[in-house]
Amino acid sequence: MPVNPDRLPGQGKLDVIVGTQWGDEGKGRMVDLLSQNADWVARYGGGDNAGHTVTVGKEIFKLHLTPSAIVRPELAVMIGRGVVVNPTTLLDELNMLHNRNIDVDPDRYLIDNHTRIITKDMLMEDALKEAVQGGKIGTTLRGIGPAYTQRTSRRGPEMGWFENANFDTDLKNYFEERIPLIRAMAQHPGVAETIEILTDKASSQNLSASEQRYLNLLQAATSDEPLDIKKETETLRKQLGQIKPYMGDTITRAHNLLNHGKDGLGEGAQGHLLDLTGGTYPFVTSSHPGPIGMEESFNIPSSRFDRVIGVTKAFQTRVGGGPFPTELSDEIAWKLRGTGANPWDEYGTTTGRPRRVGWLDGVLLKYAAKSSGMTEIAVTKLDILSGLEPQICVAYKIDGQWVETIHRVDDTKYWEPEDLKYETLPGWEEIQPGIKDWEQLPENAQNYLDRISEIAEVPVTFTSFSPEREGVVFRNQ
Ligand code: IMO
Ligand code: MG
Repeated sequence: MPVNPDRLPGQGKLDVIVGTQWGDEGKGRMVDLLSQNADWVARYGGGDNAGHTVTVGKEIFKLHLTPSAIVRPELAVMIGRGVVVNPTTLLDELNMLHNRNIDVDPDRYLIDNHTRIITKDMLMEDALKEAVQGGKIGTTLRGIGPAYTQRTSRRGPEMGWFENANFDTDLKNYFEERIPLIRAMAQHPGVAETIEILTDKASSQNLSASEQRYLNLLQAATSDEPLDIKKETETLRKQLGQIKPYMGDTITRAHNLLNHGKDGLGEGAQGHLLDLTGGTYPFVTSSHPGPIGMEESFNIPSSRFDRVIGVTKAFQTRVGGGPFPTELSDEIAWKLRGTGANPWDEYGTTTGRPRRVGWLDGVLLKYAAKSSGMTEIAVTKLDILSGLEPQICVAYKIDGQWVETIHRVDDTKYWEPEDLKYETLPGWEEIQPGIKDWEQLPENAQNYLDRISEIAEVPVTFTSFSPEREGVVFRNQ
């Protein structure tokens, strides 16, 4: 790896891990793996819309907010100001980790004072917006969009409010401003229609967890008193009181650590194709999952990053609405998705929704690699392709022309190309679980990874072929 000229002698290295697709690439396990060479790990964006799974021995940890590296006791972790935090989720997660003997002492876990808080009205607004638009985006209903909207419009609470003498008044003013908006949105006919559809469905069958959440939020929003300001303030006071020992200045801490030679790792959530501006807008999340998110969360310029590691699933998945040129709906889709019986099957960690699946989209991968400055790619879930003849989309036909390179994905013309060019690659039967070296991968699996490197014009440097920590091999460089 060339030495980054922007890193002064004695300063620590800083690598960033990003998703290259629509999330769920397996970033959590890659962060866990790479964090063994780091001193600190910082989550820089998203909220509890993320679901990161880390397997340690027989234990599976599903995390939404806490950096995946928490399972390594020697590391310090941080949640940056670019993250939006639901205090209930955070406290549940801290308790869960503590009960499973993971050290969550505040001396190794810092949350920025300016990290934004997701409040109940934001959850309702998320559900109302979905109902008004007929469920178009298919958000996780975690209040993510509304929380970032409040941040952009310079409103809405942040962690540091708890330390202000005006905490009660500030919250009261905030909620008083928000309640009429919730009431007004709740009047939209789409809301009553959605409630009716969901209640009808509930009378004859069980609603999924995300449908039940949707219904609960809409019912709360349309009730006589959508929000009890006093009760909400009390709840938040109690919760933030518990979080208080964790609050501090992550930006100064990160800079100091780097200046003292401590190596860091930036942990992204979601994926570049869900980036607010870099993704398939409006079918995106409301933050910047790519390395730009690390820059803005920690005030560290990208020129200071050593490696930007793009995590890519060996095939393509998406949960929620939006374009998906290589989507499949045949029996191969079932093979890729799995039945849901295994923890690694393609069902959302946060919402339980079945994920849409398809062949790897090389055009989008190259776009993501180029536009987010990836220096290398890690391919996950290679084993799922065993026994198949994998295909990769290598070109789109747009306006009658075949193109391999695109520079934006927020324009509808890239969403349903007139035609797609696929390459079918020779398959492999099985990847032996115990292998330790790249060369022990089946030759055709190596060829598949080489082809990904060529298409993306970024080297594939490692790959995972089972959920366990051991199920990874590195390419000798
Ligand atoms: P991780 O970190 C997959 C998707 C939602 C929806 C869109 C907007 O596990 O990779 P939001 O609730 O963010 O406003 O929803 O983004 N989405 C994700 N899809 N993995 C995620 O995170 C996601 N976070 C958001 O399904 O389409
Ligand atoms: Mg996810």
